[in-house]
Amino acid sequence: MTANFYITTPIYYVNGAPHIGHAYTSIAADVLARWHRLAGDSVFFLTGTDEHGQKVERAAQEAGLDPQAFTDRIAADFRDMAARMGISNDDFIRTTEPRHKHACAALWQRLVAADAIYLDHYEGWYALRDEAFYGEDELTTRADGVRIAPSGAPVEWVREPSYFFRLSAWQDKLLAFYDEHPDFIAPTARRNEVLSFVRAGLADLSISRTSFRWGIPVPGDPAHVMYVWLDALVNYLTAIGYPDTDAARASFWPADLHVVGKEIVRFHAVFWPAFLMAAGIAPPRRVYSHGWWTVEGEKMSKSVGNVIDPRALVDEFGLDAVRFFLLREVPFGQDGDFSRRALISRLNNELANDLGNLAQRVLTLLQRNCAGEWPAPAATTPLAEAAAALPGAVRARLDRLAFHEALEEVWRVIRAANAYIDHQAPWALRKTDPARMAEVLRVLLDTLRSVAVVLQPVMPGSMTAMLDQLGVPAQARDLAALDTAMAAGTPLPSPSGVFPRFVEAVG
Ligand code: MSP
Repeated sequence: MTANFYITTPIYYVNGAPHIGHAYTSIAADVLARWHRLAGDSVFFLTGTDEHGQKVERAAQEAGLDPQAFTDRIAADFRDMAARMGISNDDFIRTTEPRHKHACAALWQRLVAADAIYLDHYEGWYALRDEAFYGEDELTTRADGVRIAPSGAPVEWVREPSYFFRLSAWQDKLLAFYDEHPDFIAPTARRNEVLSFVRAGLADLSISRTSFRWGIPVPGDPAHVMYVWLDALVNYLTAIGYPDTDAARASFWPADLHVVGKEIVRFHAVFWPAFLMAAGIAPPRRVYSHGWWTVEGEKMSKSVGNVIDPRALVDEFGLDAVRFFLLREVPFGQDGDFSRRALISRLNNELANDLGNLAQRVLTLLQRNCAGEWPAPAATTPLAEAAAALPGAVRARLDRLAFHEALEEVWRVIRAANAYIDHQAPWALRKTDPARMAEVLRVLLDTLRSVAVVLQPVMPGSMTAMLDQLGVPAQARDLAALDTAMAAGTPLPSPSGVFPRFVEAVG
């Protein structure tokens, strides 16, 4: 059954260049978008850039540029990053676009009409780095006396006129909503954090600022610009045409999945559904939070100088190896460490040896001994059954965003295929039992076809190459096509390696 599937990445702050953390969120969402397309769903996949707020304004000042010129430049860099990472987004939203300003103004007016907003003064702590307000009880004091938010960001005291959203009115309704939708926030650790935050009581939320200008003006009161998080979250509505309910994409709401990093769960799982419910709009179905990457054991930071540009990794190791590594190495939801050694080891062992060599051996044997054609279908074997079960096994894991488990399922089959070829020794059957040899090779071809089809979302380029080498027609590469056997006699083009081994340069 085909369904709509609307999936988003967070929109990235344009205060600095894209790094591996940004690429991670985007690649994970991309794999799901591609998987749903493969399953025949109608997918809308959104990414983009978060361009307003004081943090971006200051970064522009430091760069000596006007904020629009600055954000134009960095947004283009994020767009380039998406293209280089193979991100298959259907739209790229920038919050400085007219369509977005229009959507934000419309939502604001809906909130005003619902009496969800009032004017007052904000006085309290604000962390520029997080673009977030914090309560006194959440802070600690550094040795030099600076007050620090739980995220580690320094806070400053602000006092200014501000519009407030009546968040305090939503505590019970949010708790009831989480109760009715137990899958709304995952993984469980994040859900529990949100529940205890909301249970502790919600203060009304400051949603406008007057002390700087780089934002969307509040309708009817242009001395105020909207709080950057309200502005940012609305991007998910802008992209489907809000407030036009007849827009071509309007039926994609509610969004099926917001993929976010663990530090921005509160905004997506507390503020966002409250804003939406107050405006009479359905909340998204699911918010899934992933962990953070460190690099060779250290927190990534400009001052340490260990910030990794994912494009440099792709230049060195190839795009698919990088995509595979990021999802294979660490359970999604947990923190992980990026190390070159680990990447090279996954690339050489799992891609080059386990999968690349297997395909190469099978295809070479077929070229030499079976006229370079698909042999007739063979009687079923446990290996063939495991391969046929792969789409279901992978789907069940991807539905839980357990990318590493989905890949483990595929590698279980690949390892079984390697054991099968070694055990059956088709090269020896060539003289003694050529019919049996053809059967063995057919089982291996069927296995490789299933493996390559289900791996397309993770490694689109190399699996396209592998499916080309398997002679699978371009229009028969979705999950449903796996139900139809390949015709005997289908030609196999001459094989060439898909995953070269990586050899570290010496010296
Ligand atoms: N602009 C907000 C999001 C607004 S969404 C309505 C924002 N932007 S961000 O650029 O700071 O971060 C975007 C994403 O990158 C987050 O999901 C964050 O978790 C992810 N990462 C940034 N650094 C990261 C790591 N070191 N590791 C993994 N992901 C990290 O927040």
